[in-house]
Amino acid sequence: MTRQWMLPTATSSYVVSLTPDARALRFDQWGPATSEPTAPAPLPERVPFSTPLDVAPLEYATSGTRHAQQVELVVDHGDGRRGAAWRVERPDGPASYDVSGGTTTLQVPFTDDSGGLRLTLTLRADTSHDVVEKSVVVENRSEHTVTLPRVFSGAWPVPVGAPAHVEYLTGAWGHEFTPASVDLPAGTFSIGSRQGVTGHVFAPTVTVSAAGGGSGGGTGDAYGVALAWPGSWCLAVEAPPYGEHVRVSCGVDDEDTVVTLLPGESFTTPPTLGTWSPHGAAGVTRNWHAYQRRVLARSLGPEHHPVVYNSWYATTFDVRPEHQLQLADVAAEIGAEVFVVDDGWFAGRHSDAAGLGDWTPDPDVFPDGLDPLVDGVRERGMRFGLWVEPECVNPDSDLYRAHPDWVYRVDGREPTTVRNQLVLDFGREEVVAWAEDTLRGLLTRYPVSYLKWDMNRPVSDGGRPGDVHGGQWPVQHAAGYLRVMRMLRREFPHVTVEACASGGGRVDDAVLAVADVVWPSDETGPRDRLRIQDGFLRAYPAHVMSSWVTDEPGLRDRTPVSFGYRFVVAMAGALGIGSDLLRWDAGSRAQARWLVQLYRELRPMLHGGDVVAHGVPHEPGYALEYGDGARVVILVYDTLRERRTPVRVRPRLVRDDVRYRLRGSDVTITGASARAAGIEVPWAVAPDADVLVLDPDDPDPDDPDDPRPDAPNRRSPAP
Ligand code: DGJ
Repeated sequence: MTRQWMLPTATSSYVVSLTPDARALRFDQWGPATSEPTAPAPLPERVPFSTPLDVAPLEYATSGTRHAQQVELVVDHGDGRRGAAWRVERPDGPASYDVSGGTTTLQVPFTDDSGGLRLTLTLRADTSHDVVEKSVVVENRSEHTVTLPRVFSGAWPVPVGAPAHVEYLTGAWGHEFTPASVDLPAGTFSIGSRQGVTGHVFAPTVTVSAAGGGSGGGTGDAYGVALAWPGSWCLAVEAPPYGEHVRVSCGVDDEDTVVTLLPGESFTTPPTLGTWSPHGAAGVTRNWHAYQRRVLARSLGPEHHPVVYNSWYATTFDVRPEHQLQLADVAAEIGAEVFVVDDGWFAGRHSDAAGLGDWTPDPDVFPDGLDPLVDGVRERGMRFGLWVEPECVNPDSDLYRAHPDWVYRVDGREPTTVRNQLVLDFGREEVVAWAEDTLRGLLTRYPVSYLKWDMNRPVSDGGRPGDVHGGQWPVQHAAGYLRVMRMLRREFPHVTVEACASGGGRVDDAVLAVADVVWPSDETGPRDRLRIQDGFLRAYPAHVMSSWVTDEPGLRDRTPVSFGYRFVVAMAGALGIGSDLLRWDAGSRAQARWLVQLYRELRPMLHGGDVVAHGVPHEPGYALEYGDGARVVILVYDTLRERRTPVRVRPRLVRDDVRYRLRGSDVTITGASARAAGIEVPWAVAPDADVLVLDPDDPDPDDPDDPRPDAPNRRSPAP
């Protein structure tokens, strides 16, 4: 009897079964929703020069049983034995296959032939979105210590065959989320981070399709795989020569992480996520966004996506209450909803060389504490926000002087400082408890309702002397970070949390589940930023994409742009302002006020609907289109040049049979015509950027959900 299980998502099915020898779970099918999965393709009885488990598209493979292809689990028993040979625990009894509501959870436990280890594979899917989630638990039931030099979260045998086309996001500080791709005829392509955080170099996600299949253009099967993990990680795509399945495996980094299981201990991996779309890479993006909005976000509303003013670029470490309040005057005038004081407010912090770790207001600058500043901000009608970096410490700080043993260190080795700071050892209970108490204290003492959590260096010298679990520091660090972030959500649900790591050094689906917004990059130069955001939006959604208008020219592309262009770039996500507002003249302030108001009105759409890109950011006429099924908003970008020919955009998120009105004009057009002929950009907002709003023009007069702001029966007043 074939034991086969189906996991339905909103529009797809993921199907697995037991191998005939009951030694592994194998992949059968991943594609359009079906109620009748096809029988698993029979495995060849004998393949010359291969072990039986080498020829199956396994869901999870372990060293010792598979030799030609990569494995997800490497076991070292410490006595010269490596690997494990599994057998499903109940080949005839029911596996744990639970369908409740739209959620299907499959759990399949296996025992090692030696009886000393247990492996449980968990797969979960939900019909409200298109993402399948997998993770594993390894338990040591033996009498001896076992180490796991590699314990990945799972594998995705993607049925595209080789050569595979692999799309990914790469970069560096100030240059994050640059799209790249590779065609893989045979061999392994691998990306990751050993930095204790997700890292700037690669995002933990790939999109895989058949090379030459044109998935990027929006057609063809494409498969997205991601790892939801804010620590060191590894993702490998293996294209076996002449194989049918390209294997994508991922999990915690296997170069610098060794998980040790003492007798009785177990390890649960972070989840890996997978999604299929018949609409190419753009369809995979849409699936990710829908999942991130529906499952990972706690809210899409303005309460956790406010318009921020952040004074970092205006003041850096020179934080003085009177000056901050002068900035707050203008921030309030232009419509900011939160005023955030960044780095530099705490004791001894006048540069990056000292003070980190001492989270009390600097007594010289704030002799009466933060109250006068907080009160002043709140009197101006804004919420108050604060910057913290709880994972790091300057050697020149009271915290370090009191607890020099609280940092990661390797005996006999001078710890490496980066930006004059060391990393606190979040693998120690007392350090994580200190971080929780410190933040609790701050958030209880002051009415802070926005917290920017930063992390400005990679973890090095990880581990601690004398600890058998020291090799697990990358896991411990990420787990400690998640624990404190979850505490913030639980105990201070009114506090909006922005995650930052020297720009986009820690962005992934685990962070999106504990933070409301993330800071994708320290690059705020508008043209460079547009490219970073274009890459970011391929894997992550608009509602988390914190973006500020600043006065910065850009690190690479310094082509001049208008003031309005800077706003239209920042409006693509969660709009913030970081300029030195005291330098803005009355005209700029008035224009800013108008643009902030426009953004606030469009925000539910920008954050709640689909987003598709038109063209590429470095070419004129690049646009980002947002649609929620009713209205469409298109942000268009050009260059400040004499325009000889009109620019037209062809919306893709309109409904063919609906007639739309272009806001602020007499133009009305059906969705079908707009798609075919395009809409001429009026360049009303700025000479090089525009915001096109397409409102339905002929809705049902009795429709209470009529999206037009002035609709007669609209349920709620226009924002
Ligand atoms: C790096 C962040 O990305 C910046 O926005 C700012 O918060 C600085 N750190 C402060 O040190």
